[in-house]
Amino acid sequence: MNSPHTAQVRLLLSAALALFTFTVVIGILNGTDLVDFNHKALLTHVHVGTLGWITMGVIAAALWLFALGDAPGKDAGLIRLLGYATPLTITAYSLAFLTTASVVRPLLGTLVGLVILATFVWTVRQAKGRTLSVPHIAILGSVLMSVLGAVLGVLLGLRLAGNESIPESMGEAHPAAMVVGSLVPVGMAFIEWALDGKSVERKATLAGWIQVG
Ligand code: HEM
Repeated sequence: MNSPHTAQVRLLLSAALALFTFTVVIGILNGTDLVDFNHKALLTHVHVGTLGWITMGVIAAALWLFALGDAPGKDAGLIRLLGYATPLTITAYSLAFLTTASVVRPLLGTLVGLVILATFVWTVRQAKGRTLSVPHIAILGSVLMSVLGAVLGVLLGLRLAGNESIPESMGEAHPAAMVVGSLVPVGMAFIEWALDGKSVERKATLAGWIQVG
């Protein structure tokens, strides 16, 4: 099924794959104990993988799935902006993980959060009037949880930068929202979409809503 935003989807998936090679190299060197990486390098590994590879792939999938059937050129400006802003902000944020734990990190995290929020708002708008299949609602749920997880991540970053008034529990809430809240539903979306291409044309049943919920 062709997307009217093929160029941006391809750009996002290519950037995601390029970033993923970084995560793979660090992971292999660390796993084989050839290099003993510090906390900053390991957290860069985590976020280049989860944000740079997975979340960027999810944004590409959202732009693809939620624009199927649209006329070419619809929302072209916004989608082009997302196509460039996503890899740029995520790469900048990943570099911040590697170099600093100061307030610069939550500031760049906020930019990434805004990109995810823009994707969510566009996706909700596109959902109106469409047949909402299980992959559609799972991607919507995943992007929503990414927005919430990003807010918690920015708060965690502010706490680690010295703001003691932010509760310590952010350290657990952020990974839980991102990993369980966002990755699990998007896994459901891709499994259903890949195993049965026609599933995106079938309205989700109550069981599908419960599964994602
Ligand atoms: C805008 C998006 C994000 C922001 C602002 C953010 C922020 C943060 C911060 C500040 C930390 C703590 C770093 C430290 O200890 O120095 C952290 C840790 C972590 N984040 Fe993120 N993150 C984001 C995206 C994600 C995503 C997409 C995932 C997974 C799907 C994720 C999973 C984790 C995990 C597993 C940890 C490690 C927790 C631990 O140390 O046990 N993050 N994140």
